[in-house]
Amino acid sequence: FRPFRLLSVSVWPFRKQQYYTETILWLFQFQDEVDPITTARVTSKHQRNLSFCSLQHLSPEEAVEENFILNSIAWPETPPLLPPRSINDTSDPAHSSFIILPNEGGGQWIIGDRLEVRITMFDHHGHSKKYGGDVLTARLHSPALDAGVAGQVLDHLNGTYSVVFPLLWEGSAQVEVSVTLVHPSEAVAVLHRLIYDQPDRIAYNALFRSGSVNETTICGICMRPTQHPLCDYTDVRTGEPWFCYKPKTLSCDHRITHTAGPKLYCLSCFRGVNLKVFIGASGPAQVTVLSKKEGKSKLELTLTNLYVSGAAGYYYKGVWQSLRDTPVHQFNTTSAITECLRHKEIHMYGDSTVRQWFEYLLKVQPDLHQFDLHNPAQSGPLLALDYKNNIKVTFRCHGPPIRFTVSSSEMRYIANELDGVAGGANTVIIFGIWAHYGTFPIEIYIRRLMTIRKAVLRLLARAPDTLVIIRTPNPKSSHGFEEFSASDWYSIQQDRVLRTIFKGINVHLVDAWEMTLAHWLPHNTHPEPPIIKNMMNVKLSYICSGNSN
Ligand SMILES: *[C@@H]1O[C@H](CO)[C@@H](O)[C@H](O)[C@H]1NC(C)=O
Ligand SMILES: *[C@@H]1O[C@H](CO)[C@@H](O)[C@H](O)[C@H]1NC(C)=O
Ligand SMILES: *[C@@H]1O[C@H](CO)[C@@H](O)[C@H](O)[C@H]1NC(C)=O
Ligand SMILES: *[C@@H]1O[C@H](CO)[C@@H](O)[C@H](O)[C@H]1NC(C)=O
Ligand SMILES: *[C@@H]1O[C@H](CO)[C@@H](O)[C@H](O)[C@H]1NC(C)=O
Repeated sequence: FRPFRLLSVSVWPFRKQQYYTETILWLFQFQDEVDPITTARVTSKHQRNLSFCSLQHLSPEEAVEENFILNSIAWPETPPLLPPRSINDTSDPAHSSFIILPNEGGGQWIIGDRLEVRITMFDHHGHSKKYGGDVLTARLHSPALDAGVAGQVLDHLNGTYSVVFPLLWEGSAQVEVSVTLVHPSEAVAVLHRLIYDQPDRIAYNALFRSGSVNETTICGICMRPTQHPLCDYTDVRTGEPWFCYKPKTLSCDHRITHTAGPKLYCLSCFRGVNLKVFIGASGPAQVTVLSKKEGKSKLELTLTNLYVSGAAGYYYKGVWQSLRDTPVHQFNTTSAITECLRHKEIHMYGDSTVRQWFEYLLKVQPDLHQFDLHNPAQSGPLLALDYKNNIKVTFRCHGPPIRFTVSSSEMRYIANELDGVAGGANTVIIFGIWAHYGTFPIEIYIRRLMTIRKAVLRLLARAPDTLVIIRTPNPKSSHGFEEFSASDWYSIQQDRVLRTIFKGINVHLVDAWEMTLAHWLPHNTHPEPPIIKNMMNVKLSYICSGNSN
């Protein structure tokens, strides 16, 4: 294994700016150790070295699709910083700023208009940046109204960015813009490189046992070539690869438990990757939005002249309103939820962010009881029943890679589980799979989703009334373990991959990305209860869209 020096230890609590500088410094030190001459360049044609990862076989059509997806998520190229390079040459949130652009109404905004913001990035010397690729997010909000919407960020590839917001809510004098630098573009180049150089930086373990003999070995998808023989656990039905080093004395058949394994590589490189530093405004960060009546415009406020943005929805008085798809109803009472779920069978698959919904339902539905299956609470499988109303809810974690303890016999792939569901009008399938993939080349995620898509298509072909709901990734917290495993930059790509792969298929999305970004609460892999409640209302609205509640 390539040795990495531990360069520093966590300073807690830290000031944002200091944290930022340290992190960039670390990323650069990582870069030095990897390759002092060239720095990573991210382009659509970037050589993705997958030499020691096992990938599922693709059909020629799937290979074309994968290529298309890879091109669609290609991040803007960051030119190599020639020596003497330093952190001072990277994007600096303190020197950068945004400005609200004047509109045709001469600085008067009316509901239904769009608000445009221009971000200009500078480096630590105060020189303007000449290329794009910074990871930026933006939100428009009215704190007094508990209202917010995520902005659509456009990279002009010259160091400036545009953000466009729809102006959607009435009743407040002011809306406020906030812009966040998630990572500078230079960090993206390094992150990209880390993903392909160290896909095995978080390992997985298998415990083998026979009689009184125990052995533990390392498992994964990307196994560096060594002298150790491998146990091949590639799934025969889906072709999903999975390997463990063969134990010295026991056989491959003696595997009993899967667990999260050791962290092998440069984890210090990942500390603070989710920087998330606010960028200030160089002028006012707020504007007053007039209602239609107050404004001079004679426009009728209808959907046709509302500025149609790419936004999935927005919060108003803490309640998520959808701008796409099914209108969101509020299921505020136990009886409203029971009415919606009566005679339904709800199967949830995925990671802990899906399990949050299982747990939420148990909390708000007193008639729903969890049946003790004696399984680990993290991985399940879990079962909850409401006998009176004939409601069944299950949860099962997705197959490896997963950082949970799971008995080998309960390690199942979502695709295989879906093949075991008859489906029908009373069946609801919910899945979310993202948080455990952030250390792997995106090709592995793409292929996993393609496998699941095939199973969804089979399910919808045999039972077209089955409702399928998919949870998208969401922004994570900027501190703690989460950032070791992946960055929001990776989640942004996962989000795009997921949407592309399920496009045109009769499935519904819960847009966890925007629902977290638009909310004032801090980002967290596991969003806070008010966001979960809104997600639950989105889901229940899909399930009961025929109802008039
Ligand atoms: C890919 O990575 C492997 C192992 O790290 C290395 O041996 C090989 O030379 C690399 N190939 C390319 C094209 O960079
Ligand atoms: C970066 O700039 C600061 C302030 O100008 C300076 O003190 C520091 O030495 C510079 N760092 C590097 C690595 O060039
Ligand atoms: C960057 O590109 C945008 C869009 O093409 C353009 O409007 C803007 O003037 C450019 N800014 C600079 C500093 O070149
Ligand atoms: C093997 O593992 C089991 C459970 O983890 C433990 O109870 C037992 O003592 C172990 N046996 C040996 C020989 O280490
Ligand atoms: C449900 O709760 C929300 C937020 O607490 C509230 O704004 C809304 O009026 C309630 N809706 C119903 C139908 O009770």
